[in-house]
Amino acid sequence: MSIIFFLLLLSSCTSSVLSADVNDGLVLLKIKEQLGNPQELSNWVEGFQFCGGLAYTGSYGQVECTSTGRVKHLAIQSIMTAPAAPFPEAICDLTELEALTINFLYNLYGPIPSCVNQLSNLFTFDIERTGLSGSLSESLFLNHQKLQYLILSSNAFSGSIPASISTIPTLKDLDLTNNSLNGTIPPDLVRGPDSSLLLNENRLTGEIPKCYQWVPLGWFTVSNNKLTGDPSFLLSKENILVINLSHNDFEFDLSDVEISKTISILDLGFNKIYGKIPQSIATGDHFIDLDVRNNELCGDIPQRKVLPWQPYEAANFADNKCLCGSPLPPCDNPGPAP
Ligand SMILES: *[C@@H]1O[C@H](CO)[C@@H](O)[C@H](O)[C@H]1NC(C)=O
Ligand SMILES: *[C@@H]1O[C@H](CO)[C@@H](O)[C@H](O)[C@H]1NC(C)=O
Ligand SMILES: *[C@@H]1O[C@H](CO)[C@@H](O)[C@H](O)[C@H]1NC(C)=O
Repeated sequence: MSIIFFLLLLSSCTSSVLSADVNDGLVLLKIKEQLGNPQELSNWVEGFQFCGGLAYTGSYGQVECTSTGRVKHLAIQSIMTAPAAPFPEAICDLTELEALTINFLYNLYGPIPSCVNQLSNLFTFDIERTGLSGSLSESLFLNHQKLQYLILSSNAFSGSIPASISTIPTLKDLDLTNNSLNGTIPPDLVRGPDSSLLLNENRLTGEIPKCYQWVPLGWFTVSNNKLTGDPSFLLSKENILVINLSHNDFEFDLSDVEISKTISILDLGFNKIYGKIPQSIATGDHFIDLDVRNNELCGDIPQRKVLPWQPYEAANFADNKCLCGSPLPPCDNPGPAP
């Protein structure tokens, strides 16, 4: 090999990258083929230097490699031209993959194949807005012991949430929003400070396990399910930031709940919550986006000294049993004269 040729190779890639680049390069071409050779990936051709010093190869298909030339990050997004295709199983051969993102691929259908178990180095597993469906099996994530972000929102997954997710020692964020998942919420799904559990818009039933009292959650959102019981212990959690319990069948007395000082968004709308709004909601000094509409609450709305409820927030208190006081009409004058 001539020295000049060798130097040219070095300039586009380190020498160790080259051979490995070719290996995972063929896998990437296989993925493209399994996706039906979409127009958006037309720059993925034989000989293309996927790792060749470029972090990204285009907005539709983005590749980042390790220093040894294996694919480390893969993002495939907004591909509309492909014919309907199942999950490209060749992805499972990218065994050094740490982050997988598949977004806006509505033509992708069928289940997540069990071979994703081979991707044991993943810390981000993000599949959003596809047509993928079927149940999430208990064994699907058992090998993912480094996973921190599991995001499967806006797909068509059904069946129950695998309880085995709780065995992932590092899982910080779980987002299963907008699927057709049913059954109850398993305990201990996420861990670590500021973790988030986002389960909105599914068909979940039952009560929220009490163990979530001990998980240092930042975000907890379960709106638009069919959940029942008394999850008021969540409202007192230290360091919680966002709680959305709206559109469920929760039924509890709010009167004596100590509202956490850290909450900035609290949506309790469209449940069967009764009693009074506790004074503790009014003592914080930061903005609270509070929504309690359509419950069975009664009595004085506590008035905040700092950052009062704004007039436009009247709707957030509407359709209760007998709430009164600003931003609703005063308590001694509950509405216009007949
Ligand atoms: C829910 O998911 C479907 C399918 O991906 C999508 O079309 C819809 O916009 C999503 N809804 C929301 C509120 O994100
Ligand atoms: C959940 O949905 C599946 C179908 O997707 C059904 O077979 C199962 O009985 C449902 N389970 C519950 C608890 O509703
Ligand atoms: C709570 O979640 C629902 C969607 O499920 C959304 O419409 C609503 O705006 C959320 N509430 C807040 C305060 O963000």
